[in-house]
This record gives sequence, structure tokens and C-alpha cells, in this order.
Amino acid sequence: MPNPIPVILDCDPGHDDALAITLALARPELDVLGITTVGGNSGLANTTYNALRILALLGRPDIPVAAGSDHPLTRKLETAPEVHGESGLDGADLPEPISEARPEHAVEFLRATLSAATEPVTLIPTGPLTNIGLLLRTYPELTARIGHICLMGGAMRAGNWTPAAEFNIWVDPEAARIVFNCGVPVTMIGLDVTHQALMGLPEVDRLRALGTRPGTVFADLLHFFTRFHLERYGSADTPIHDAVAVAHVAIPGLVRTERYHVDVECTGEITRGRTVVDDRGQPGLAPNVDVALGIDRDAFSELMIAAVASFA
Ligand code: BDR
Ligand code: CA
Repeated sequence: MPNPIPVILDCDPGHDDALAITLALARPELDVLGITTVGGNSGLANTTYNALRILALLGRPDIPVAAGSDHPLTRKLETAPEVHGESGLDGADLPEPISEARPEHAVEFLRATLSAATEPVTLIPTGPLTNIGLLLRTYPELTARIGHICLMGGAMRAGNWTPAAEFNIWVDPEAARIVFNCGVPVTMIGLDVTHQALMGLPEVDRLRALGTRPGTVFADLLHFFTRFHLERYGSADTPIHDAVAVAHVAIPGLVRTERYHVDVECTGEITRGRTVVDDRGQPGLAPNVDVALGIDRDAFSELMIAAVASFA
């Protein structure tokens, strides 16, 4: 097997972020160099605490965690307690952390880790893009050290936070704009694909049946996550958005992509945070982003269950 791909997860756990972390740590194709956290689904203190609790659950306190931005580049932070609960990770009895966040800011952790890496590193952002935008703006010379940015955010078609915008891009569109236009290969794992990557009540039962602590915790977390989707969309089948970004890096070919030009609307009165995808064909704007469009639901949910099952 080729050397594992070095990755850094930048996240705001978050139920689906927690599953993304679990998948990344389960997959032999990936080498997780660290986790950086950002204010998003909940405030920064909560998302950092949640990342540390997940690492305790998985028995991986060795993975470095660095806390980053507690608010977007130019805006006030908007959180999502109606989706993830007040803690950002409501619904399960998680262990207390057995490790601490590093003293330096996430951007400094990213700078040092990218500089020290022997090959370009893949960034997997699954929250608002504030940390990554800040990194690219502060240390533009580091773009050469980033091999790929595979981000969960955006949508080619409908949004989820507003009719136009997906949550992560809505929260910090200015940071997203920097990232989409940075020149590094970018993959957009947007709602078009994540709404095909579903887990629901049968998967809750399968996770519980594993009979392990991680199995029970993720059954409870998934059950909590399904309740919001049942109320909002009328189905307990729930998109596990963030884990799709990890799955795409680990398993090439699982996600179908097409290359288009994408930019971010920052100032629109009713379209703020929209990822504007040019799929008109020729003549069009030069493609800059691989846009994810399809995934096999069963293959995805099997991958997720196997990932949780790999932890005792
Ligand atoms: C994104 O928003 C958050 O609530 C999820 O964690 C995911 O990253 C989906 O729109
Ligand atoms: Ca997230």
C-alpha cells in the first residue's frame, strides 16, 4: 500500500464532524497530523472540548488539537444549536478529555505542521473556513505546502441555512472566498452529494449492536442528529456531511466529481454565502474546483459503520 496521505482536519464538532474524525482515524490510507478547531456549530470552547472528548472516546489522545478562530473574519459568529444542541455535540454520554489543546493558535499549528511536513499536506475543513482563510492570508507562501483542500461546504443547487447558502459558507463567506480562489486544488463536498450520504434509524441500531462504548456513543449521537432532520425534512435519514470529505480523500472514486468554476457570494442581500457554480459549459469561466455530485449511499454507510466498529 502507498504511504498514507498526510491530512489535517479543521472542524467544529458537531455530530458529523465527530464521525469525520472517526473515519479519518480509522482509515489506513490517511495519516492524521492534527485537528484544528473553529467556532461554527457551537462556540470555539465547545468545539475544541468536543474534539478532545472524541479523541478520548477513540483512545487517541496522541492526536494534537489546536484551537483557532472564535469568530469569522469580519462577522459575528452564528451557531447551530437547533441542529447540534447547545454543546455542539448533544445526545450522548461522552468521556471527559484525556489530553489538552496545544497552547498555540490553530493557524500557528498549521504553519508549523505544513512547514515541517516532508510532502504536501491535504487539508479537510468541515466547518466555517475561517482558520484556513486566515492561514492563506497570513502565510501565502504556504500554499505550496498544501496538496489539496477537500472541504465540506456549499451547494451547486439549494442551500440549507438559507435558500441560497449552506451553513459553513454562510457563516464565513469571506474566508470561503479566499479558499476557493487560492490556487490549491479544491474539492467542494457540498449538499448535492452529502444529501445522498445518509444514515438513519437502521444505522442507529447497527451502531448500538456493536456493543462497544464508541458504538453506543455514536448510536446516541446519530439518533440525536436524526431528530432535527426528521422535524425539518420529514425523514430520519440524515446527511453525514463532513464524513464525505474524509471519505473522498481516503477512497478515490467513491465520490463522483465534475470540474467547474466556483466562487462565493459575499455581499448579496438574499444570496450571501452562495457558492456560484458555472456549469454552463463553453464558453464559461475557467474551472477551479472539483464539485462533488454523487456517492453510493450503501457503500458510504457501510464505511461509516466499519469505521466505528474498528474502535473498541
Ligand atoms: C455543515 O454544517 C454543520 O452543521 C455540519 O457540521 C456540516 O459541516 C452542513 O451544512
Ligand atoms: Ca461541521
